[in-house]
Amino acid sequence: MSTPSLLILPGDGIGPEVMTEVRKVIDWFGAKRDLAFDVSEDLVGGAAYDKHGVPLHDDTMARAQEVDAVLLGAVGGPKYDELDFSVKPERGLLRLRKEMDLFANLRPAQCFDALADFSSLKKDVVAGLDIMIVRELTSGVYFGEPRGIFEEGNERVGINTQRYTESEIERAARAAFELAMRRNKKVCSMEKANVMESGILWREVATRVGKDYPEVELSHMYADNGAMQLVRAPKQFDVILTDNLFGDILSDCAAMLTGSLGMLPSASLGAPMANGRPKALYEPVHGSAPDIAGQGKANPIACILSFAMALRYSFDQGDEATRLENAIEAVLASGARTADLMGPEGGTPLSTAEMGDKVIEALDQSL
Ligand code: NAI
Ligand code: MG
Repeated sequence: MSTPSLLILPGDGIGPEVMTEVRKVIDWFGAKRDLAFDVSEDLVGGAAYDKHGVPLHDDTMARAQEVDAVLLGAVGGPKYDELDFSVKPERGLLRLRKEMDLFANLRPAQCFDALADFSSLKKDVVAGLDIMIVRELTSGVYFGEPRGIFEEGNERVGINTQRYTESEIERAARAAFELAMRRNKKVCSMEKANVMESGILWREVATRVGKDYPEVELSHMYADNGAMQLVRAPKQFDVILTDNLFGDILSDCAAMLTGSLGMLPSASLGAPMANGRPKALYEPVHGSAPDIAGQGKANPIACILSFAMALRYSFDQGDEATRLENAIEAVLASGARTADLMGPEGGTPLSTAEMGDKVIEALDQSL
């Protein structure tokens, strides 16, 4: 098989800073695990706007369509706040998601033991937590028609439409069941079938898809109850399947169970390509963090964990992904912390580069 290809788009703000640390990790896997990647790098967001006047050049878009996986840092920043909506940095990211048709957004919420004190919840509620939210990303109320602000009588009305076709629900559901097969074989599907027809259809289709996965235990929950259960007893879940709107909220809610934004990776997957690999974009959940950009303070772990997801979901290297996650667990257990992970007791935080070096040391230890 040919060398797997990876397109790196560092973006803006802390994006390039955290990506430098990911490059160290990628190089380590090449040198020590014989895992070579054909890596190319390009511009996205404000960085692309500065050079090309658009937040994503057509050539970059074309390259993203060809590669096995895209790894993105972050886009945006105050410098670009006044730009026209059509060329805002965020449009570059949205274009990637849309044209690659990345319909399944995977948001893990995993609690590293060393950080359990960081959660807003009690330690025993979150210690060992490892759940995965699959959010449908390309349809639903953010895209449904009709939409807009219209005149109605003598006032205006704002309209958005929650709209899901069976095939849109089906492919998101399949992504969730496939994941569950690789994990703990449990899917909880969340909607509001009690008050929304789109929810009734969602439940029906999820149930039908579930028949293809008899080993997976499927349950259904109303999304509002799901939110309650996520903060009451999150460990009851393995894979959560939900739509775009509920997934937006539930994944942010689950994310905070685990502490810092600097720790959270994500993957967005599309349909399989000719080589069987899904179209894929990996990125940390955080943004460009202008308040700390350029200061060497950013936590690179979210972006490094995003690469671990790429190893697992794009490159069939689940064992190496686990090796990387375990290395990060070991680094945290040793007490190493970037500034965002410092408790009130203080101490001296590591810089972005120092944290990257710690991860490399832990990887060396793993051999
Ligand atoms: P943000 O995620 O950039 O920052 C929120 C807070 O978390 C800040 O205090 C920041 O310092 C901290 N933080 C974020 N990542 C961190 C890391 N790795 N290590 C340590 N601390 C970290 O969100 P914010 O401030 O709302 O947005 C800033 C810019 O980023 C905006 O232009 C926004 O549009 C853009 N953005 C881009 C996203 C993306 O590229 N996917 C996602 C969210 C925001
Ligand atoms: Mg959100």
